[in-house]
Amino acid sequence: MSWSRTPILALVISLLTWAGTHGCAKSTDQDSDGDASAARAGRGKDGGTSASADGDSSGSGSGGSGGEATASSGGGSGSSSSGGGGDSAASGGGTIAPAPAGCPDPAVNMVHETLSCAGLYADIGSKELAAGVRPFTPAYKLWSDGAEKQRWVYLPEGSKIDNSDPDAWVLPVDTRMFKEFKWKGKRVETRLYWKVSPTLWLKTSYHWNDDETEATRFAGGEVDVAGDTYYIPSAKECDQCHKGRTDRALGLERVLMALPGAEGLSLADLKADDLLTEPPGDESFELGDDGTGVGVAALGYLHVNCGVSCHNGNPASEGYSSDLRLRLPPEALDGRSPVDFEALTSTIGVPAQTPRWSDGTRIVAGSAADSLLYQLISMRDPANPKDQMPPIGSRVVDTEGIKAVEAWINALAAP
Ligand code: HEC
Repeated sequence: MSWSRTPILALVISLLTWAGTHGCAKSTDQDSDGDASAARAGRGKDGGTSASADGDSSGSGSGGSGGEATASSGGGSGSSSSGGGGDSAASGGGTIAPAPAGCPDPAVNMVHETLSCAGLYADIGSKELAAGVRPFTPAYKLWSDGAEKQRWVYLPEGSKIDNSDPDAWVLPVDTRMFKEFKWKGKRVETRLYWKVSPTLWLKTSYHWNDDETEATRFAGGEVDVAGDTYYIPSAKECDQCHKGRTDRALGLERVLMALPGAEGLSLADLKADDLLTEPPGDESFELGDDGTGVGVAALGYLHVNCGVSCHNGNPASEGYSSDLRLRLPPEALDGRSPVDFEALTSTIGVPAQTPRWSDGTRIVAGSAADSLLYQLISMRDPANPKDQMPPIGSRVVDTEGIKAVEAWINALAAP
């Protein structure tokens, strides 16, 4: 009977792997993830006993925790080539960037407690960036209720982004992506995604102190900013959006770094600095006109606000099962008309599939007011967030931004 053991063992292993990669493992036992040892080794730790990886549940008050680990690949997506192969480009399998003097190493599979040690700044007081940290601004931006945002990426020295699948880049181990939010002119939070192994990302938000000299890991929730309430997402909420791409990066991608409007580190820079494994082809893209003359701004808006995270063809994305697809295809942004893009074919004249909206049509050509998509992006209802789009991450309608969508839908020729 021994012959039958192998398949059973394989099944058990694959089930465990599935659980790990589908976020079933609770944040508190992430160190039991098969990957953790690699991360430990890479970070120069001997592992020792299994220190608990994290503590969303530690109950240590609002500022107590917030880092959380997630496996980033193998989520059943079709993009298998990008799945687990991210180690090829890593230099040294995950050496960590030098932290300023006096910074303790974080616990296994934990982010640093404070932003000053997390690798963004050489000196948080003067806001001098650490060596190798580069700012970038995507061509189109996510609406964040009017917060002012800045983004940076750190790629470990000598590493490259594996762009062999142009639609699903694989970032080198020890990549860190940061995003700072200012509200009413004050720094409130700086978010971090940190790739600690080929399949494991840690993530958190750091909440800034009043005088903006330090920021500390924060579990998520409301904070006060100059008498106003501001909401910092939890680690779970980060991934509700970011799991839409297998390797988590949403703005750091082929489309948003190459369309006109991208600033800072761009696709052209990545090529010039030899940071890509493959030549990227055209370094700048053009989104063509669909005949309305006003489609470009609307499609760019929908790509970043809806498509990169939830409404795309990655089976791990939140909106996958609805078949609504608003992500732009990088291989077709050569100026051609987008009439065949899924952002149009899965919306215009297409009935909603979600039962609660089953009498709606996603886009009614010629009438934004009658289009479910437009109704939902014009709606904010904190008491019932499922009836607003996006359902998380926003409490204020993007009045200016959605004008582009309104104008486009109204300009579409009625059937
Ligand atoms: C509502 C969806 C949503 C939520 C929730 C969210 N993000 Fe993002 N995030 C995005 C999108 C979309 C982008 C890219 C566009 C932009 O930056 O304007 C982005 C960009 C980023 C970036 C810059 C790197 C990149 O992916 O381009 C970082 C870092 C980041 N987010 C971290 C976090 C962390 C950490 C959390 C949780 C504390 C979080 N985000 C919560 C949607 C979200």
